Amino acid sequence: MTSSLDSLSRRAFIERLGGVGGTGLVMAGMSALGFGIESRAATPPSLSGGGGKKIVVLGSGVAGLTSAYELSKAGYDVTLLEARDRIGGRSYTARKGTKLTELGGEAQTCAFDEGHYINPGPWRIPYHHRGYLHYAKTFEVPMELFNNDNDHSYVYFAKGSGPLAGKAIRKQEIAADTRGYATEMLAKQVNQGALDQDFSKGDKELFLSYLRSEGYLTGKDFKYIGSEGRGWAVDRGAGLNPGVPSTPYALSDILQSDTWATLKSVSDFDQQRTMFQPVGGMDQLPAGFVRHLKPTIIHKSHVVEKISQDADKVQVHYVDGKGHRGVVTADYCICTIPLSVLRGIDIQVSDPFKKAVSGVSYAPVGKIGIQMKRRFWEEDHAIYGGHVYFDNPDIGSIALPSTGWLGNKGVLLGYYQFGANAAKISAKRLAERQAFAVAEGQKVFPQYAENAESAFSIAWHRVQYNLGGWAEWNTDNRRDSYPILNEPDGRIYLAGEHLSYLTGWQEGGIESAWQQIGKLHKRVHA
Ligand code: ALA
Repeated sequence: MTSSLDSLSRRAFIERLGGVGGTGLVMAGMSALGFGIESRAATPPSLSGGGGKKIVVLGSGVAGLTSAYELSKAGYDVTLLEARDRIGGRSYTARKGTKLTELGGEAQTCAFDEGHYINPGPWRIPYHHRGYLHYAKTFEVPMELFNNDNDHSYVYFAKGSGPLAGKAIRKQEIAADTRGYATEMLAKQVNQGALDQDFSKGDKELFLSYLRSEGYLTGKDFKYIGSEGRGWAVDRGAGLNPGVPSTPYALSDILQSDTWATLKSVSDFDQQRTMFQPVGGMDQLPAGFVRHLKPTIIHKSHVVEKISQDADKVQVHYVDGKGHRGVVTADYCICTIPLSVLRGIDIQVSDPFKKAVSGVSYAPVGKIGIQMKRRFWEEDHAIYGGHVYFDNPDIGSIALPSTGWLGNKGVLLGYYQFGANAAKISAKRLAERQAFAVAEGQKVFPQYAENAESAFSIAWHRVQYNLGGWAEWNTDNRRDSYPILNEPDGRIYLAGEHLSYLTGWQEGGIESAWQQIGKLHKRVHA
């Protein structure tokens, strides 16, 4: 890769990264600057010669499935225990007949029409999650694009002031106007010489050209007078219809509405618009693993009660769906049970390890899928996928489906909240959650309430065997606990999204599994 930085300043930059963020940041920085160090694995470790050593894998989310698949391929004798009567963990899809009863909650059965679904857990795959995509390709799981950013969708911010507050505004209008005015002002300063000391003569001209291009400024006097990209008042058409340009909002109105807060020069790395989803639901990747695992390996409805170990073996005590107790004895254990659940299990590990397991919090997360009788967001609003952003964190965002385009019905994501907001909404009864989501959606789409047919909601912090959406490390326990949990305690290895810097992503689970089985394999062959 080429870089405009010369090698001396590149080195100085890397030293600075080390000071600020430690080794991880140095690695990422070195890679970005073309020094050839990749901190991310793109393919599984190549293992062979398992020699029939016994491994017990706990949990059938993507970390457990990855471990079971790679280890059995390498000749290990794998037993996988899964607490639920289904495979996949959070990699899960709710469709007609899916049942869920949250802890202390009402029984819920999904009543979507055949072929419609919501992914209550993971739902989008960044293009750089190469571990996930590796397995999708290996197992021939069909993938489709997930539209993670839609210029034509709405922003609904009600907390600001001025005429745009509490109105659904197209994101393209906010983006065009905010950037247009900002570049116009900057161009004015540059043209008046206010920034002359920052530019060489040539760069000043180039910078002005950039501002003109970025903000759609007029050629001569660098004015923002609106742009085609913000949309038309009357769209162009055939014959004698040249169209009527739209009129920009006033800068002050945009500023007061706070809607500019949805803008960024570029999306976060894990939210860039080219994303994927498996065709037919997120559970298709776990299904792909299952197709490639010997059926005798997987034991569903086996709830782990205790994990013990000594110098020669590890033993996992379980109770099965019929209430029978049993023990699996193995040489090693790969435990992918979320730490939020593991801390409630009797596990024989060192005190520092136990303390590290207990000290990590898990994110409260809530989602609701709502089946709509008709795809009014497409038919009436020309919005195909993407999100509607709210400044009410109880709703967070509405996401329009990236599947079933132009079809008759559709399931949209009606809210997506975190933390205290998820805790608050999850305390409502199911019908109240739905009523709340529909009332909020109605503020943006007049067709919302009349089309809402049925809903399926989830609050991950209230789901047995998860007790939270994903691990949330803070600076202290990343430093003190995280390294401990990344190393085995005796014969027990942990794996999962919680043991990665990609928490809340399946990729974290997959790459963590690769790392841990790689360590285990090395030890077996030491
Ligand atoms: N990975 C999660 C998401 O995509 C947090 O929303």
